[in-house]
Amino acid sequence: MKHYIITGASKGIGAALVNLLAGKDTHLHTIARSSHADILQQAVDQGAEISSYSCDLSDTSETLPTIGSILQNIQADQHLDEVVLINNAGLVQPVGPSGQLDPLEIEKSLHVNLTSPLQLTNEFLSLTKEMDCKKTIINISSGAGKSPFDGWSTYCTSKAGLDLFTRSVGIEQDRLATNTTIVSFSPGIVDTPMQEEIRSESKENFVNVETFQHYKDQNKLSHPETVAASIQNLLQDSNLQNGGLYDVTDYL
Ligand SMILES: NC(=O)c1ccc[n+]([C@@H]2O[C@H](COP(=O)([O-])OP(=O)(O)OC[C@H]3O[C@@H](n4cnc5c(N)ncnc54)[C@H](OP(=O)(O)O)[C@@H]3O)[C@@H](O)[C@H]2O)c1
Repeated sequence: MKHYIITGASKGIGAALVNLLAGKDTHLHTIARSSHADILQQAVDQGAEISSYSCDLSDTSETLPTIGSILQNIQADQHLDEVVLINNAGLVQPVGPSGQLDPLEIEKSLHVNLTSPLQLTNEFLSLTKEMDCKKTIINISSGAGKSPFDGWSTYCTSKAGLDLFTRSVGIEQDRLATNTTIVSFSPGIVDTPMQEEIRSESKENFVNVETFQHYKDQNKLSHPETVAASIQNLLQDSNLQNGGLYDVTDYL
């Protein structure tokens, strides 16, 4: 059985991943705050086993028991082929120049985008140690982790941190010979609810808002399904570089 743990499974890229990865001999463990029953029903119809968790990843007291239950469930499987953690949940807020942001929103953003993937990875590595199968962690990053954007200082910081975390843990896993590969993956600009949020920002908060509106008008956004397919191709690459930073275009 292949086990996929997918955070942010209720919308956008996460929902597309659930749909694409669902099949016979797969067990999907989904995490989000909101209900995503329709997405899960489709996955069941495609033959997948599903365990769905309602969890606010900005709250450590919810995150740790959730990932603990998931990994306990996976440990009970006598026919493990592969275990994959996809740290996909994220938020672009708070948007605006530093000096005008809500401090609690800064804290929440860093917690969901950075702290929770670090915590989930830590638990994953600890509780899969004895599993003798292929293990992969994919951290969904962004071009915003590689270049600065006016108005996205918190988001850029969180994704840059996620990339350096990935590179550091990749070195560790190679040295420890754990049979675990961790990579970072930038999906490009994707037609999801997050992009709707970006397009609805004021120009005062986000000076590039018109550029993003034009991307939509000119049909330049990728479909979430295309990104999910690229991630599926990446998972089939047996030559992944541990700690590597990959982009959607690498696997189209
Ligand atoms: N869309 C793009 O153009 C783009 C570009 C580069 C990178 N990315 C990255 O790709 C990933 C997915 O983005 P997307 O565009 O699909 O975003 P999205 O449409 O806004 O979906 C975000 C997902 O994250 C979940 N989430 C947010 N806050 C959460 C919390 N506190 N606890 C648990 N789950 C939470 C949401 O679920 P609930 O609301 O149900 O909790 C939702 O399922 C993100 O990491 C994003 O930074 C996206």
